[in-house]
Amino acid sequence: MTEGAAVPATPTAAKGVTGTDAVSSESVDVRPPETAREEVLVLDFGGQYSQLIARRIRECGVFAELLPHTTDFEQIKERRPAALVLSGGPASVYSEGAPELRRELLELGVPVLGICYGMQAMVRVLGGRVEGAEAGEFGRTPLELSNGGGRLLGGLPAEQQCWMSHRDCVFEAPPGFAPLASSPGSPVAACESPERALYGIQFHPEVVHTPYGTEILTRFLRDVAGLTETWSPASVITEQVERTRAAVGDGGVICGLSGGVDSAVAAALVHRAVGDQLTCILVDHGLLRKNEAEQVVETFRDRRIKLIHVHAADRFLDRLAGVTEPEAKRKIIGEEFIRVFEDEAEKLPDVRFLVQGTLYSDVIESGGDGRAGAAVIKSHHNVGGLPEDLGLDLIEPLRMLFKDVVRAVVTELGLPDRIVWRQPFPGPGLGIRIVGGEVTKERLDILREADAILQEEVRAAGLYRELWQSFCVLPVVRSVGVQGDGRSYAYPIVVRAVTSDDAMTADWARLPYDLLERVSNRIINEVRGVNRVALDVSSKPPATIEWE
Ligand code: XMP
Repeated sequence: MTEGAAVPATPTAAKGVTGTDAVSSESVDVRPPETAREEVLVLDFGGQYSQLIARRIRECGVFAELLPHTTDFEQIKERRPAALVLSGGPASVYSEGAPELRRELLELGVPVLGICYGMQAMVRVLGGRVEGAEAGEFGRTPLELSNGGGRLLGGLPAEQQCWMSHRDCVFEAPPGFAPLASSPGSPVAACESPERALYGIQFHPEVVHTPYGTEILTRFLRDVAGLTETWSPASVITEQVERTRAAVGDGGVICGLSGGVDSAVAAALVHRAVGDQLTCILVDHGLLRKNEAEQVVETFRDRRIKLIHVHAADRFLDRLAGVTEPEAKRKIIGEEFIRVFEDEAEKLPDVRFLVQGTLYSDVIESGGDGRAGAAVIKSHHNVGGLPEDLGLDLIEPLRMLFKDVVRAVVTELGLPDRIVWRQPFPGPGLGIRIVGGEVTKERLDILREADAILQEEVRAAGLYRELWQSFCVLPVVRSVGVQGDGRSYAYPIVVRAVTSDDAMTADWARLPYDLLERVSNRIINEVRGVNRVALDVSSKPPATIEWE
């Protein structure tokens, strides 16, 4: 999940759309040059851990990309991958409509590692026996090596733990394959045919509960596929800077900043490539967190990156007047944002490119990069979401990176921790945290002050980075209280703090009572118009992170 979308659209179908036409702009290819690329393609058969496999391979120093298992064979061949990995998947290989493994992939002449479903599919295609077992194996499972572990597992402990998640299993390896291991529920838990460079493991090497998982992946990459560790977060910067420079030439580039890490990193990287050809635009819609715009302005001015700070709060408030329905708010904010952005962009000479902080997870979630034709899981604000008539080519230097790598490269670019570690913030900002009523200046001021207190206290308690998000919500209801000697009739503030890995699911954070007490006291005492603080103790699902 990318935070702080520069263009405030919604990432989830449930939350509606921006109300602007989707883009069809071409993205400029900023992948590593052909010659420099040694890549592994992970074919996704729908497994829960497919992304994680790609991530682990990258952590082993080798570039890996996740593609749907349906990717055109010619396309795969053209990429000249150094190896293929077949991921796990929820289907049963012999059920109708199960994702098919095309035999030609096994004859491509590159090493192939099948994991879980990937192994079963490989075994089945090559004439081995895969069947449903009486009981599946889920979770930590003992693994016993046979045949000395063969090329893939040789030298590892004869007995070890691994992480399994399967119901079907391999009863017989295909002709020419040596079985390498078994577990209580899997007669053949690993097998190989080194002559054909085909390998299969039933367990998941990518999860931390398989203690030798990284070692096994490394063996496959280094010893079987002969790959060297050349890919690193630092190498990404060099590659992307070169690529961007070549793509942009002497054209003008613009970038919308949101205050979030992704757009900031993308901008800093592009600035390193093309310097003053880049102009950043910060649309201040008046719905940002306290001091957020100022911090972004300061950070970019310090780095001498050209920045236009557009004060557009009144414009947004005018358009939001009388609007209570959440989707309508989102739509108005999205449309107005584009309008302001366009107005500014038009004033700049020779703008031909637009920088977006799209991350790899956004690309995957949005159905791949257009080359792959994957199913659309959800449309994301950072992929598309721009008006078609902007007519600019997209520069997306983070398109191939996972969020943790973005954070790893960021210090190299000299951006302050305050920006790098900022919690995600929705594009429509505080506008969707005033719920059940109109967004007014008074309510925004209350919410912004309360939120600032919460952030300050969460930081002081050392919990800021542990939380995916922590923020305040202002429900438009008022209740009675006593403050001083008088009766008050004021708003409540709801504290929402969640832990999450990717915002797809989230748990409410167990904040310490003393922290909650300080937050509550300070908000009620310091923010006029509030007489109650409540805590949201709902997880996602069934609730969502934001209230609207
Ligand atoms: P929910 O509320 O769906 O949020 O659990 C998941 C993540 O997405 C962010 N979010 C948004 N981001 N525009 C955005 O750019 C939106 O309209 C929007 N709605 C939710 C939310 O903050 C969380 O990180």
